[in-house]
Parts: sequence; structure tokens; C-alpha cells
Amino acid sequence: MARVRPYECKDQPAVQGVCIATGPANANKPEVRARLLACFCDYYVEKEPENCFVLADDDANAVGYILCAENFGRYYTAFCKEYVGRARQGGLVNGISAWFTTLPQHFYAKKYPAHLHIDILPAYQRQGWGTVLMDTLTNHLRAKKIPAVMLVVGAGNKKGISFYKKYGFVQVKNIFGFVAMALKL
Ligand SMILES: CC(C)(COP(=O)(O)OP(=O)(O)OC[C@H]1O[C@@H](n2cnc3c(N)ncnc32)[C@H](O)[C@@H]1OP(=O)(O)O)[C@@H](O)C(=O)NCCC(=O)NCCS
Repeated sequence: MARVRPYECKDQPAVQGVCIATGPANANKPEVRARLLACFCDYYVEKEPENCFVLADDDANAVGYILCAENFGRYYTAFCKEYVGRARQGGLVNGISAWFTTLPQHFYAKKYPAHLHIDILPAYQRQGWGTVLMDTLTNHLRAKKIPAVMLVVGAGNKKGISFYKKYGFVQVKNIFGFVAMALKL
């Protein structure tokens, strides 16, 4: 039986695999892969592993995750110092695009200091695991007295938006094809 548990160092390759498998169609192109991992995976598991949880299958391999940065200032400093450069290895456009991913959080960090990313492999979707991952993280953040969490989802990701709305997230902005959503904890 699959289960949700705290992230462990050994999970990083599998978590990266989920990030790429649930990413855009061109996610395996080396330059795109470098940006996706820098922006949506590696910062969180390398700098804030205590704020990351995985859905593990029967063989203990990660098949889904929820990754979180609990404080925007801490995230932004490390992300710009190290991870924008990693994305930049895929070319200038990827480097710039990586920096742009921090903008929505920048605008709303005062009200919603934490932000998250959640992804689950297709075979494990729509079985309630996303809700379990979200419950695990929100309880963890409440225990740390974090007041609110936000996320950014593509405006075309209707399934994702439906999941977040059902969970209680509200839309705070819809701009340039992206929707920022937030949840008070
Ligand atoms: C979005 C995602 C995390 C949701 O996790 P999940 O385990 O599939 O969701 P749950 O089974 O907990 O669903 C809870 C509720 O969310 C909504 N929901 C979930 N998947 C949905 C879908 N495909 N279409 C419409 N509503 C959906 C439903 O209201 C569902 O409740 P119900 O099953 O009682 O109707 C997961 O499907 C996923 O990883 N998708 C691909 C990657 C992705 O889009 N990530 C988010 C990027 S911002």
C-alpha cells in the first residue's frame, strides 16, 4: 500500500523523475530539464528537505510529492544565488525564465509567505493522495505557525485548479496565463 512520508535524501532521483514526468511535453530536452529541476524540485529538496513529503509506493519509491518553501525571503536568496545559475546552464532564456518564476511569490509573500509544488504520477492520481499530501504539509506548516501558503498553476491546468479549489485555495491573481492561488492556514 502506498503511503505518505517525510522526504529523505535518497528520494531525490525519483522526485526529479516525477517532476519531469508530470512536466511539459518537452521536459526531457536537456535545457528544459535543467530549468524544471532548478525551479520546481531541487531548491526545495536540497535547501528545505524538512518541508518536503513524498507519496511512496510498495517498494518505497517516490511516485508523488509535495515540496514547500516556508519563507519567501529565505527561498529567494538561495534560489537567485544558486538555482537561477543552474537553469542558466540551459541558456540565457532558461535562466531569465527561472527568475521570472519567483515573481508571483514576490508580490504576495507578505500575506502568503510559504509556497508549494505538488505532483503525482498518473497511476496514483485521483485516489485521494493529493489530498493526503496537502493535509500533511498544511498540518506541518500550522505546527510551525506559518500563516498562509500559496502556489502558481498554469491557467490551462483545469484539473489542478479544480483540485486546489476543492481543497480550499482561492484565486488571488490570474495573469499572463498563470493563476496564483492561496490558502490561509
Ligand atoms: C493535481 C493533483 C496533485 C491532484 O492530486 P490527486 O491525488 O489526483 O487528487 P485527489 O484524488 O486528492 O482529488 C481531490 C479532489 O480534487 C479534484 N480533482 C482531482 N483531480 C481532478 C481531475 N483530474 N479533474 C477534476 N477534478 C479533480 C476533485 O474535486 C477531487 O475530489 P473527488 O475525487 O472527490 O471528485 C494530481 O492530479 C497531479 O499531480 N496532477 C498532475 C500534475 C499537476 O497538475 N500538478 C499541479 C501543478 S501546479
